[in-house]
Amino acid sequence: MNIIHTKDYNNMSRKAAQYLLDKIKHKPDMTLGLATGGTPVKFYDYLVRDHQQQDTSYKNITTFNLDEYIGLDPKDTNSYHYYMNKHLFQQIDIPQEQTFIPNGLADNLLEECRQYEQTIDHHGGMDLQILGLGGNGHIGFNEPGTSFNQETHIVELAESTRQANARFFQDLNKVPTQAITMGIASIMKSKEILLLVSGEQKKEALHLLINGEVSTEFPASILKKHPHVTIIADEKALADIHSSYYA
Ligand code: GLP
Repeated sequence: MNIIHTKDYNNMSRKAAQYLLDKIKHKPDMTLGLATGGTPVKFYDYLVRDHQQQDTSYKNITTFNLDEYIGLDPKDTNSYHYYMNKHLFQQIDIPQEQTFIPNGLADNLLEECRQYEQTIDHHGGMDLQILGLGGNGHIGFNEPGTSFNQETHIVELAESTRQANARFFQDLNKVPTQAITMGIASIMKSKEILLLVSGEQKKEALHLLINGEVSTEFPASILKKHPHVTIIADEKALADIHSSYYA
């Protein structure tokens, strides 16, 4: 895993945007895996700014989001559909039909998972997958204990994840208890992975990821087995990591 040190959240976001834009330049029709949550918000801001100023085009790009809550309407302001439209899709030139997000309102959720995975495979898997890191080591919504062999599936959200995400909702009771998420196996199919980590609240998780064992109890640890992972983290998140680990 290649670790890139940045000064703060803003620098992490800018660096990550530059990293992706460079990839897009080389492969303007890439298949891109996207993440939600607080971490990538500014990263998306930088992509939008670049699109406005440099005209980078997303017309030939296809995106797959990691996850979506079950039971939320795409118009619900807390759905990941809404988040992606607001922070990225509506502000760039990507055709809507090239953006995929699991449908958390599907009548047959198991079938939705199966089809989502099939669509990813049909596109040849992701060229690059963007990830955030949950405080308990989750990636996507793959909570501790999830088998590394799982593809897109339905999950029960850990209480700690619901509490962490309650800041986006009016109260904890409104946070859904289930989600659809790409599985660890879906994520590992990506040719390359870019993990963004920011803030003091992630320093323990990042320390465990870098220094701990590979274990289903800490889902992100599987990334050590992937041949091409880059972590862009800020100083606060890297507080417990020895500087010899990063560039
Ligand atoms: C959320 C999302 C993940 C995200 C992670 C970290 O629950 N499902 O995709 O990467 O947890 O979120 P944040 O960036 O808000 O800390």
